[in-house]
Amino acid sequence: MTHPSPTPPLSSTSTTPRAGFSSSFGVLAATLGSAVGLGNIWKFPSLTGANGGAGFLLVYLLATLLIGLPVMVAEMAMGRQARANPITALRTLAPRGQPWWLIGMAGMGAAFLILSFYSEVVAWVFAYVLKALRGSLLSSDPAVTGAAFQALISDPVQSLLWQWGVLAFIGSILLLGVTKGIEALTKKLMPLLFVLLLLLCAFSLSLSGASQALAFLFQPEWHKITAPVVLTAMGLAFFKLSIGMGTMMTYGSYFGDEQNIPATAVRVMAADLSVSMLAGMAIFPAVFTFGFEPAAGPSLVFITIPAVFAQMPFGQVLMAAFFVLTAVAATGAMLSLMEVPVVTLHERWGISRPRATLLTLLGLVMIGAGCALSQSTLAAFQPGGRNLFDWADFISSNLLLPLGGIFIALFVGWVWGTGAFRQALSNRGRLNNGTLAQAIFFVLRWVSPLLILAVMLRGLGVF
Ligand code: TRP
Repeated sequence: MTHPSPTPPLSSTSTTPRAGFSSSFGVLAATLGSAVGLGNIWKFPSLTGANGGAGFLLVYLLATLLIGLPVMVAEMAMGRQARANPITALRTLAPRGQPWWLIGMAGMGAAFLILSFYSEVVAWVFAYVLKALRGSLLSSDPAVTGAAFQALISDPVQSLLWQWGVLAFIGSILLLGVTKGIEALTKKLMPLLFVLLLLLCAFSLSLSGASQALAFLFQPEWHKITAPVVLTAMGLAFFKLSIGMGTMMTYGSYFGDEQNIPATAVRVMAADLSVSMLAGMAIFPAVFTFGFEPAAGPSLVFITIPAVFAQMPFGQVLMAAFFVLTAVAATGAMLSLMEVPVVTLHERWGISRPRATLLTLLGLVMIGAGCALSQSTLAAFQPGGRNLFDWADFISSNLLLPLGGIFIALFVGWVWGTGAFRQALSNRGRLNNGTLAQAIFFVLRWVSPLLILAVMLRGLGVF
């Protein structure tokens, strides 16, 4: 079902044609490229480990289905309808004079905050490619792999330089433009990552700790599901699906008129979930086999994955390949994060794309340094018990993205209205999905805003 012809520019807000994804498969690849990233390989296992396993996983699944999916559909529909960056899109879709475009502004802030710590984790991944090639990581001794990771993150020079390298790398891809840069890269390499994860997972499940790992992942201990755990799981659902800050709205603006939005959202969600599950099942058997700590947090992936590869035939080569592919997945996600400020600066403030890219990078070099140095030079600076890295992560996932989700749901449910929403989802009447659209609309109008708000307030201890 591919449409090889380029998307006709249907801009209602500007006279210059906008670039778009060139095929339906391109849409899926790029959208999936945004969703799949370090969230699957790094954040999902770390959070699942730190929050008790199966119970967290269950809440995360529920949040993805009940909250994530409808919000993702909403964002894509709004983006395609307006064919513009989030700020312009909200200005176009909202009645004159109402400040809904502030969602777009908050989204830009969230993008910077996420990128500031995300780029540092990508930096660790890049560094690990090099370490893997040198063979300096191959050990299934927690003390050895733990020390290797610690040495990396506590070195301020390495942390900063790798981050700058990552930012320069991403910037140069973005300068090539939407279609070429994003599509070409994600299309080719994502299937490879999937295959390698499958292999890793199969091997890991043959280790002696596998049954313990499966119990940890699939047998909930109900008392561990506390309000903060629920908030973290919901935040992960937002982060994973790249929603709540305008990324999916921006990508929706590049969709073709024939793109089936609900079907695309479901496919992205399903594929994204399966990558996370594979990562989890690759990592946790190793955790229990080699005596790692499941609650190790951000370091979990970086200390357990080498241990698994150390046991595998061709471990050194495969580990290098694993981190290269993880870097590719993370690149697709970073591109989508950067796209929001870049296209907004470009369309809204008339700054050329190259300049907008450089400006965004400059901003990231400055605020990203706080995260890069948070485990070394700034390690002692922990206002409120979190270092800067953890604050950036916490504020973006647990506050900004859910807040964005609330307002996007409210906007569709109470301002945009059922008629416009159904019309948008049906591709102007060509798809017969009125009942589905109505159901999603109902959730967006009533369920999502209240549920997100309740989870946030409880999770933050407000009541
Ligand atoms: N979903 C990506 C991941 O899991 C990260 C990401 C990309 C993101 N774009 C986003 C997160 C927008 C929140 C919002 O790695």
